[in-house]
Amino acid sequence: MKTTFAKIAVPKEGTLVLTALRGSKFTDTTKAVDRRMSGALRRAVKAAPRFTGEKGQFLEIVAPAGLRLGRIILAGIGKGSDFDRLALEALGGAMVKRVSATGESKVSIAVDAVSGVNVSVAESAARVAAGAILGSYRFGRYRTKEKPERKPSVTSVVILTDRVTEARKAFKSIAAVADSVNYARDLVVEPGNVMTPKALAGRARSLAKLGVKVDVLGKARLEKLGMGALLGVAQGSDQEPYVVTMQWNGKPRSKKTDLALVGKGVTFDSGGLSIKPASGMEEMKYDMAGSAAVIGAMRALAGRKAKANVVGVIGLVENMPSAGAQRPGDVVTSMSGQTIEVLNTDAEGRLVLADCLWYAKEKFKPGAMINLATLTGAVIVSLGYHHAGIFSNNDDLAWQLTSAGRESGEVVWRLPLGPDYDRQIDSDIADMKNIGGKGAGSITAAQFLKRFVGDVPWVHIDIAGTAWAYKDKPTNPRGATGFGVRLLNRLVAANFE
Ligand code: BES
Ligand code: MN
Ligand code: ZN
Repeated sequence: MKTTFAKIAVPKEGTLVLTALRGSKFTDTTKAVDRRMSGALRRAVKAAPRFTGEKGQFLEIVAPAGLRLGRIILAGIGKGSDFDRLALEALGGAMVKRVSATGESKVSIAVDAVSGVNVSVAESAARVAAGAILGSYRFGRYRTKEKPERKPSVTSVVILTDRVTEARKAFKSIAAVADSVNYARDLVVEPGNVMTPKALAGRARSLAKLGVKVDVLGKARLEKLGMGALLGVAQGSDQEPYVVTMQWNGKPRSKKTDLALVGKGVTFDSGGLSIKPASGMEEMKYDMAGSAAVIGAMRALAGRKAKANVVGVIGLVENMPSAGAQRPGDVVTSMSGQTIEVLNTDAEGRLVLADCLWYAKEKFKPGAMINLATLTGAVIVSLGYHHAGIFSNNDDLAWQLTSAGRESGEVVWRLPLGPDYDRQIDSDIADMKNIGGKGAGSITAAQFLKRFVGDVPWVHIDIAGTAWAYKDKPTNPRGATGFGVRLLNRLVAANFE
């Protein structure tokens, strides 16, 4: 799909999207087109009294004689102040999807200046375009026999704006982020037989093209570093484990690492010897979504040349139950020196992250750390599929992330930590055990991670419920969401640049 910007004019083909405010108040271009149509738009609105211009309403009209256009869609945008960045993106996403079902290949969306909106006209246009990129995402790689009439038909989206040059400029950065969300989605949907630790390491390595300094640590290096917790998980699989670091130094004059992003990359989680039930096990191909978000975020930061020094660290393993697999009851020694009694091999994400967090802290001395992981089913019990759960040792960073969530649409909700929960993971024979017993499963998992971050301001984001969507939304089609890319990009833009 091609996204372009052009001066406002009535296009000669395809579908034209125009906007109307609450009370069916037409915006400027809508008024102008209505005049060209001798009031046909106004009459159409009269004939469909339930269309009132509220946000999310649409009215479709066949373009009358005299215009070479196919159709017009009037999109309600509510009151001006409703039309924020997220609503603009949603409009772009909803429009491509709607038109894509009709067979029409071209859609033009007029983005007028609307009073009360606190997004510039140029950025508004760019946001609509980004929404189209996000909303039209589709993974078609393994469909070899799809009939053309079932494929999405839109191939060209033209954003009509008075500020073409500025819109193109704003779009550069915004598109870098949207493309990176889709990049992350691609990594997450791929099945476990394709997206192995090695394959995922390869995708991370390809960020070198963008000026990211990538280092791939293989098994021998991980052994030397003493990453016994991560290696214990990997030992039940034929797939070799990797840890990959990705450094983006957008502030080359400073040697300091502002932020480390750490991702869980379990490319398939069978549970290991504490094996999962057959039903739904296939979903565990997305147990690497944390690392996909980190790769996507690094790609976005490099793509838009963010002025911050950020490092990504991802732990890539497969959790399988071979004869060499770790047993429940095994004790492993993490890179930090702390010992862990592995009571359940299915609580493997925290073992992988324990070594990655410690490594990130020791190697890069970051000012802050954020990890993302599809860590617990329990977070879905608490928050469902809409908010990710966050856990933090630092109120400021937790708030910054909460704000970044509101602004980016990838919302998070903080859950507590505390010494009583921490005691739940004390072990009888080692420094800690990897499960916390009854209750608060997401919190005890977070308490476990906290033991590996020292004093560094840190947030853990549990994305088990948000990495995969079971329902379509305008900018998040069903399936892999790429959750975390927009959130982290926003966090960096607002607090680290
Ligand atoms: N990858 C799973 C968590 C998960 C569950 C992600 C559902 C996405 C959807 C994780 O490794 C896991 O198995 N966690 C266990 C922990 C338990 C054994 C303490 C869980 O949540 O059941
Ligand atoms: Mn597991
Ligand atoms: Zn897992």
